[in-house]
Amino acid sequence: MPRRLRSILSLLDLEPAARRHLPRPLFGYVAGGAEDDAARADNRDAFAEWGFVPRVLRNVSERTTETELFGKRWAAPFGIAPMGLSGVIAYRGDMVLAQAAAEAGIVNIMSGSSVIRLEEIAAASPDSWFQAYLPGDPERIRGLIERAAAAGFGTLVVTVDVPVAANRENNIRNGFSTPLRPSLRLAWDGAIRPRWLLGTAARTLLRHGMPHFENSFAHRGAPILARQVLRDFSNKDHFDWSHIDMIRERWPGRLVIKGILDPGDARLAREHGADGIIVSNHGGRQLDHAVSALRMLPAVVEAVGDVPVMLDGGVRRGSDVLKAIALGARTVFIGRPFLYAAAIGGAEGVAHAIGLLASEIDRDMALLGITSLAEMTPERLVRIG
Ligand code: FNR
Repeated sequence: MPRRLRSILSLLDLEPAARRHLPRPLFGYVAGGAEDDAARADNRDAFAEWGFVPRVLRNVSERTTETELFGKRWAAPFGIAPMGLSGVIAYRGDMVLAQAAAEAGIVNIMSGSSVIRLEEIAAASPDSWFQAYLPGDPERIRGLIERAAAAGFGTLVVTVDVPVAANRENNIRNGFSTPLRPSLRLAWDGAIRPRWLLGTAARTLLRHGMPHFENSFAHRGAPILARQVLRDFSNKDHFDWSHIDMIRERWPGRLVIKGILDPGDARLAREHGADGIIVSNHGGRQLDHAVSALRMLPAVVEAVGDVPVMLDGGVRRGSDVLKAIALGARTVFIGRPFLYAAAIGGAEGVAHAIGLLASEIDRDMALLGITSLAEMTPERLVRIG
């Protein structure tokens, strides 16, 4: 294992390592939440409010972390959340994440705000799901979903918690913006992080040219430095359930709605044809003080028990994954740590991170006295907060 990964003993070790590796504006973009970071902090706090009640003497020698979702068996009950600009944070970031997930047999959700063409990801990792930030314009919606279907994606994730851009003051303080604006400060921030500058920025420019937002429309979007980007990403505030109906009519595959917290919205999602729901506050990056997904999970599961309910936000340990499963999640997604792993260690880094989390789940299952995730029931938890 490369030396820089040897000290990574858990997903929590990735953040300080990424802080040392990435230019400050980029690290801040990944790590940060919105406004006071209250929602982001609650995502971790919520998991600490549950304790385990293990069973003993149950012969746990034959156990499996496998889980079934949408008619497919996955090796573990966690996957990679969609993250925009992954290819700027890590060299070929989206590809590295997709390939590592495919190799490990876990779900990968490719972000629509990526700088790698969706067709390339679908070819390299056919089980990946595609996430879209759909514009409110029917013509454009149609163009993009037809393109994703033609590329072979079977699952479309529509993110619904971004009607307007969030207030991320940390981005302004750190000099991060979309479009990225070249400045002396950005140049300096890059110069003092030479491994990122050469290994990611220079290598990307030399081999692939200036990154563009590749998947906002039926065709290639604007370069990440272009002012046009602002216009391409705005105009979403009139998006509503009628657009979901339109998408449902046209999208032949599975439809997952990401960014729901309210059980009533979960019911509406089911009524409007969603095949799955991701309970999420967007990693605390949209509405600050939006409650943690874990806190709403039981109510959402109760509201739409027959639809697979998934969760993301603040999952860092195998114990977190198992708590979410006990409260009704079919699988969970993890964002930031996997992107840090891709930045620091490429495909090897992501494989290492996946391996760490998978072994934590396996070990915790043995210590809990269970051999399958079906046994991870609410009786294994007690509220301590
Ligand atoms: C995100 N997230 C996100 N979500 C989405 O639906 N589309 C996107 O393009 C992005 N982009 C994005 C970029 C970065 C850098 C981060 C950190 C997050 C949100 C993401 O999918 C997920 O909801 C959270 O990251 C989950 O929280 P944790 O695991 O990061 O705490």
